[in-house]
Amino acid sequence: MKKVAFITGGAGYIGTATAITLARAGIAVAVGDINREAVDKVVNQIRENGGEAIGLVYDVTNSAEVNEAVDETVKAFGRLDIMVHVAGGSARLAGPGKYAQLVDQEDEVIDKVLKVNLYGAFYASRAAARVMIKQGEGGRIINFASTVGVNGLVGSTEYAASKGGVMSLTKALAKELGPHKITVNAVAPGVVCRPEVDVSTPEGHKYAYETNLLGEMCTGEDIAYMVEYLASDKARMITGQTYIVDGGRTLSMKGTD
Ligand SMILES: NC(=O)c1ccc[n+]([C@@H]2O[C@H](COP(=O)([O-])OP(=O)(O)OC[C@H]3O[C@@H](n4cnc5c(N)ncnc54)[C@H](O)[C@@H]3O)[C@@H](O)[C@H]2O)c1
Repeated sequence: MKKVAFITGGAGYIGTATAITLARAGIAVAVGDINREAVDKVVNQIRENGGEAIGLVYDVTNSAEVNEAVDETVKAFGRLDIMVHVAGGSARLAGPGKYAQLVDQEDEVIDKVLKVNLYGAFYASRAAARVMIKQGEGGRIINFASTVGVNGLVGSTEYAASKGGVMSLTKALAKELGPHKITVNAVAPGVVCRPEVDVSTPEGHKYAYETNLLGEMCTGEDIAYMVEYLASDKARMITGQTYIVDGGRTLSMKGTD
Protein backbone atom coordinates (compact mmCIF):
# COMPACT_ATOMS: atom_id res chain seq x y z
CA MET A 1 0.00 0.00 0.00
CA LYS A 2 1.28 3.46 -0.93
CA LYS A 3 2.18 5.66 2.05
CA VAL A 4 0.98 9.25 2.17
CA ALA A 5 2.90 12.29 3.47
CA PHE A 6 1.64 15.75 4.38
CA ILE A 7 4.44 18.31 4.06
CA THR A 8 4.20 21.93 5.21
CA GLY A 9 6.60 24.43 3.63
CA GLY A 10 6.87 21.91 0.81
CA ALA A 11 7.67 24.59 -1.73
CA GLY A 12 10.67 26.06 0.09
CA TYR A 13 14.27 24.99 -0.37
CA ILE A 14 14.43 22.08 2.10
CA GLY A 15 10.70 21.37 1.70
CA THR A 16 11.04 20.89 -2.06
CA ALA A 17 13.97 18.51 -1.57
CA THR A 18 11.92 16.65 1.05
CA ALA A 19 8.83 16.36 -1.15
CA ILE A 20 10.87 15.15 -4.14
CA THR A 21 12.87 12.69 -2.00
CA LEU A 22 9.76 11.17 -0.41
CA ALA A 23 7.98 10.98 -3.78
CA ARG A 24 11.02 9.23 -5.24
CA ALA A 25 10.72 6.71 -2.40
CA GLY A 26 7.21 5.88 -3.65
CA ILE A 27 5.29 8.00 -1.14
CA ALA A 28 2.29 10.09 -2.29
CA VAL A 29 2.90 13.65 -1.13
CA ALA A 30 0.62 16.56 -0.28
CA VAL A 31 2.86 19.55 -0.93
CA GLY A 32 1.60 22.44 1.18
CA ASP A 33 2.80 26.02 1.34
CA ILE A 34 1.54 29.58 1.57
CA ASN A 35 3.11 30.27 -1.84
CA ARG A 36 0.73 28.93 -4.53
CA GLU A 37 2.99 29.43 -7.53
CA ALA A 38 5.87 27.60 -5.89
CA VAL A 39 3.57 24.74 -4.81
CA ASP A 40 2.42 24.21 -8.42
CA LYS A 41 6.03 24.04 -9.60
CA VAL A 42 6.99 21.33 -7.09
CA VAL A 43 3.85 19.29 -7.80
CA ASN A 44 4.49 19.43 -11.56
CA GLN A 45 8.10 18.41 -11.09
CA ILE A 46 7.08 15.38 -9.02
CA ARG A 47 4.37 14.35 -11.49
CA GLU A 48 6.70 14.75 -14.49
CA ASN A 49 9.04 12.29 -12.79
CA GLY A 50 6.29 9.73 -12.25
CA GLY A 51 5.52 10.57 -8.63
CA GLU A 52 2.14 11.19 -7.03
CA ALA A 53 1.46 14.63 -5.57
CA ILE A 54 -1.22 17.19 -4.85
CA GLY A 55 -0.70 20.86 -4.03
CA LEU A 56 -2.37 22.61 -1.10
CA VAL A 57 -2.21 26.29 -0.25
CA TYR A 58 -2.68 27.24 3.38
CA ASP A 59 -1.26 29.32 6.21
CA VAL A 60 0.26 27.00 8.79
CA THR A 61 -0.41 29.57 11.54
CA ASN A 62 -4.15 29.11 11.01
CA SER A 63 -5.29 25.86 12.65
CA ALA A 64 -8.58 25.70 10.71
CA GLU A 65 -6.69 25.92 7.41
CA VAL A 66 -4.26 23.23 8.55
CA ASN A 67 -7.12 20.91 9.60
CA GLU A 68 -8.80 21.46 6.25
CA ALA A 69 -5.55 20.73 4.37
CA VAL A 70 -5.11 17.45 6.25
CA ASP A 71 -8.74 16.56 5.40
CA GLU A 72 -8.05 17.34 1.73
CA THR A 73 -5.02 15.06 1.82
CA VAL A 74 -7.04 12.17 3.22
CA LYS A 75 -9.78 12.84 0.69
CA ALA A 76 -7.27 12.73 -2.18
CA PHE A 77 -5.16 9.73 -1.11
CA GLY A 78 -7.42 7.85 1.33
CA ARG A 79 -5.02 7.90 4.30
CA LEU A 80 -2.17 9.70 6.07
CA ASP A 81 1.04 8.09 7.33
CA ILE A 82 3.65 10.84 7.58
CA MET A 83 3.54 14.51 8.60
CA VAL A 84 6.58 16.72 8.03
CA HIS A 85 6.39 20.33 9.24
CA VAL A 86 9.15 22.07 7.31
CA ALA A 87 7.58 25.54 7.03
CA GLY A 88 9.53 27.99 9.10
CA GLY A 89 12.30 30.48 9.25
CA SER A 90 13.96 33.18 11.30
CA ALA A 91 13.16 36.90 11.61
CA ARG A 92 13.28 36.99 7.81
CA LEU A 93 9.70 35.62 7.93
CA ALA A 94 8.56 39.07 9.08
CA GLY A 95 10.45 40.83 6.27
CA PRO A 96 13.97 41.87 5.40
CA GLY A 97 16.13 43.56 8.02
CA LYS A 98 14.17 42.19 10.99
CA TYR A 99 17.04 40.50 12.81
CA ALA A 100 17.61 42.17 16.21
CA GLN A 101 18.72 41.36 19.71
CA LEU A 102 15.80 40.85 22.07
CA VAL A 103 16.06 44.28 23.72
CA ASP A 104 15.39 45.84 20.30
CA GLN A 105 13.08 43.22 18.82
CA GLU A 106 9.50 44.06 17.80
CA ASP A 107 6.40 42.15 18.96
CA GLU A 108 5.35 41.37 15.41
CA VAL A 109 8.63 39.59 14.62
CA ILE A 110 8.49 37.51 17.82
CA ASP A 111 4.85 36.61 17.07
CA LYS A 112 5.49 35.68 13.44
CA VAL A 113 8.49 33.46 14.12
CA LEU A 114 6.85 31.64 17.04
CA LYS A 115 3.63 31.20 15.09
CA VAL A 116 5.09 29.69 11.92
CA ASN A 117 7.78 27.53 13.56
CA LEU A 118 6.15 26.46 16.82
CA TYR A 119 2.40 26.97 16.52
CA GLY A 120 2.64 25.48 13.02
CA ALA A 121 4.24 22.38 14.55
CA PHE A 122 1.41 22.15 17.11
CA TYR A 123 -1.34 22.55 14.51
CA ALA A 124 0.12 20.22 11.87
CA SER A 125 1.12 17.55 14.43
CA ARG A 126 -2.30 17.64 16.07
CA ALA A 127 -4.26 17.44 12.81
CA ALA A 128 -2.09 14.58 11.54
CA ALA A 129 -2.14 12.68 14.86
CA ARG A 130 -5.93 12.75 14.97
CA VAL A 131 -6.11 11.04 11.58
CA MET A 132 -3.31 8.57 12.40
CA ILE A 133 -4.92 7.55 15.70
CA LYS A 134 -8.24 6.95 13.95
CA GLN A 135 -6.50 4.90 11.23
CA GLY A 136 -4.92 2.74 13.94
CA GLU A 137 -1.81 1.82 11.93
CA GLY A 138 0.81 4.03 13.56
CA GLY A 139 2.51 6.91 11.81
CA ARG A 140 5.41 9.32 11.61
CA ILE A 141 5.49 12.94 12.78
CA ILE A 142 8.62 14.92 11.92
CA ASN A 143 9.05 18.58 12.84
CA PHE A 144 11.87 20.95 11.94
CA ALA A 145 14.17 22.29 14.64
CA SER A 146 17.56 23.94 14.05
CA THR A 147 21.03 23.94 15.55
CA VAL A 148 20.10 27.47 16.65
CA GLY A 149 17.48 25.85 18.89
CA VAL A 150 20.26 23.72 20.39
CA ASN A 151 22.92 26.43 20.84
CA GLY A 152 21.20 29.82 20.60
CA LEU A 153 22.31 32.65 18.31
CA VAL A 154 22.79 36.37 18.89
CA GLY A 155 20.04 38.33 17.10
CA SER A 156 17.75 35.30 16.86
CA THR A 157 16.25 34.72 20.32
CA GLU A 158 12.75 34.23 18.93
CA TYR A 159 14.02 31.73 16.36
CA ALA A 160 16.10 29.84 18.95
CA ALA A 161 13.16 29.68 21.36
CA SER A 162 10.73 28.54 18.67
CA LYS A 163 13.03 25.69 17.66
CA GLY A 164 13.74 24.80 21.31
CA GLY A 165 9.96 24.61 21.69
CA VAL A 166 9.80 22.21 18.75
CA MET A 167 12.35 19.94 20.44
CA SER A 168 10.34 19.91 23.69
CA LEU A 169 7.08 19.32 21.81
CA THR A 170 8.80 16.37 20.13
CA LYS A 171 9.59 14.71 23.47
CA ALA A 172 6.20 15.28 25.10
CA LEU A 173 4.22 14.28 22.01
CA ALA A 174 6.34 11.14 21.56
CA LYS A 175 5.16 10.09 25.03
CA GLU A 176 1.53 10.81 24.19
CA LEU A 177 1.55 9.06 20.82
CA GLY A 178 3.83 6.11 21.58
CA PRO A 179 0.88 3.90 22.59
CA HIS A 180 -0.55 4.52 19.10
CA LYS A 181 2.73 3.45 17.42
CA ILE A 182 3.16 6.98 16.09
CA THR A 183 6.78 8.16 16.30
CA VAL A 184 7.58 11.83 16.79
CA ASN A 185 11.00 13.20 15.91
CA ALA A 186 12.67 16.42 14.83
CA VAL A 187 15.42 17.25 12.36
CA ALA A 188 17.80 20.09 13.19
CA PRO A 189 19.75 21.40 10.19
CA GLY A 190 22.84 23.56 10.59
CA VAL A 191 23.66 26.03 7.83
CA VAL A 192 22.12 24.81 4.59
CA CYS A 193 23.32 26.44 1.41
CA ARG A 194 20.53 28.14 -0.50
CA PRO A 195 20.35 28.61 -4.28
CA GLU A 196 20.48 32.39 -3.95
CA VAL A 197 23.86 32.28 -2.20
CA ASP A 198 26.55 33.37 -4.65
CA VAL A 199 29.47 31.12 -3.76
CA SER A 200 31.79 33.10 -6.02
CA THR A 201 31.80 35.94 -3.45
CA PRO A 202 33.96 35.55 -0.31
CA GLU A 203 30.86 35.81 1.93
CA GLY A 204 28.95 33.26 -0.15
CA HIS A 205 31.90 30.90 -0.18
CA LYS A 206 32.30 31.22 3.59
CA TYR A 207 28.56 30.63 4.08
CA ALA A 208 28.53 27.58 1.87
CA TYR A 209 31.83 25.87 2.57
CA GLU A 210 33.22 27.06 5.89
CA THR A 211 30.26 26.53 8.20
CA ASN A 212 30.98 22.93 9.11
CA LEU A 213 33.80 20.48 9.76
CA LEU A 214 33.58 18.82 6.35
CA GLY A 215 34.17 21.93 4.25
CA GLU A 216 31.34 21.09 1.88
CA MET A 217 27.96 22.64 1.23
CA CYS A 218 25.09 21.16 3.21
CA THR A 219 22.20 20.84 0.71
CA GLY A 220 18.46 20.41 0.98
CA GLU A 221 18.90 16.76 -0.03
CA ASP A 222 21.28 16.14 2.88
CA ILE A 223 18.44 17.14 5.20
CA ALA A 224 15.74 15.35 3.19
CA TYR A 225 17.57 12.01 3.47
CA MET A 226 17.27 12.18 7.26
CA VAL A 227 13.54 12.86 6.91
CA GLU A 228 13.25 9.93 4.49
CA TYR A 229 14.93 7.65 7.02
CA LEU A 230 12.82 8.81 9.97
CA ALA A 231 9.69 8.39 7.83
CA SER A 232 10.63 4.84 6.85
CA ASP A 233 9.80 1.52 8.49
CA LYS A 234 13.51 1.19 9.35
CA ALA A 235 13.11 3.95 11.95
CA ARG A 236 10.20 2.25 13.74
CA MET A 237 11.99 2.24 17.13
CA ILE A 238 13.16 5.87 17.07
CA THR A 239 10.97 8.44 18.82
CA GLY A 240 11.22 11.62 20.87
CA GLN A 241 14.59 12.56 19.36
CA THR A 242 16.08 15.53 17.54
CA TYR A 243 18.61 14.70 14.83
CA ILE A 244 21.24 17.27 13.95
CA VAL A 245 22.37 17.31 10.31
CA ASP A 246 25.06 19.97 10.14
CA GLY A 247 28.34 18.49 8.92
CA GLY A 248 29.66 18.80 12.48
CA ARG A 249 28.98 22.56 12.70
CA THR A 250 27.74 22.45 16.30
CA LEU A 251 31.04 20.90 17.42
CA SER A 252 32.94 23.89 16.14
CA MET A 253 30.64 26.69 17.33
CA LYS A 254 31.96 29.15 19.85
CA GLY A 255 31.18 32.62 21.20
CA THR A 256 28.31 34.27 19.38
CA ASP A 257 28.29 31.87 16.37
N1 LIG B 1 18.17 26.80 5.51
C1 LIG B 1 18.84 26.64 6.62
O1 LIG B 1 20.05 26.91 6.70
C2 LIG B 1 18.14 26.10 7.85
C3 LIG B 1 18.90 25.83 9.00
C4 LIG B 1 18.26 25.32 10.13
C5 LIG B 1 16.89 25.09 10.11
N2 LIG B 1 16.18 25.37 8.98
C6 LIG B 1 14.74 25.12 9.03
O2 LIG B 1 14.38 24.33 7.91
C7 LIG B 1 13.06 24.67 7.50
C8 LIG B 1 13.06 25.00 6.00
O3 LIG B 1 13.99 26.03 5.74
P1 LIG B 1 14.30 26.51 4.24
O4 LIG B 1 15.71 26.93 4.21
O5 LIG B 1 13.82 25.51 3.26
O6 LIG B 1 13.40 27.82 4.17
P2 LIG B 1 12.57 28.39 2.95
O7 LIG B 1 12.32 29.83 3.26
O8 LIG B 1 13.22 28.07 1.64
O9 LIG B 1 11.21 27.58 3.04
C9 LIG B 1 10.23 27.81 4.00
C10 LIG B 1 8.87 27.64 3.34
O10 LIG B 1 7.86 27.85 4.31
C11 LIG B 1 6.81 28.57 3.69
N3 LIG B 1 6.03 29.30 4.70
C12 LIG B 1 6.42 30.40 5.39
N4 LIG B 1 5.42 30.83 6.17
C13 LIG B 1 4.40 29.98 5.97
C14 LIG B 1 3.08 29.89 6.51
N5 LIG B 1 2.63 30.80 7.40
N6 LIG B 1 2.28 28.90 6.09
C15 LIG B 1 2.71 27.98 5.19
N7 LIG B 1 3.93 28.02 4.64
C16 LIG B 1 4.78 29.00 5.04
C17 LIG B 1 7.50 29.51 2.73
O11 LIG B 1 6.62 29.99 1.71
C18 LIG B 1 8.63 28.64 2.21
O12 LIG B 1 8.26 27.98 1.01
C19 LIG B 1 12.62 25.83 8.38
O13 LIG B 1 11.83 25.33 9.45
C20 LIG B 1 13.91 26.40 8.89
O14 LIG B 1 13.78 27.06 10.12
C21 LIG B 1 16.76 25.87 7.85
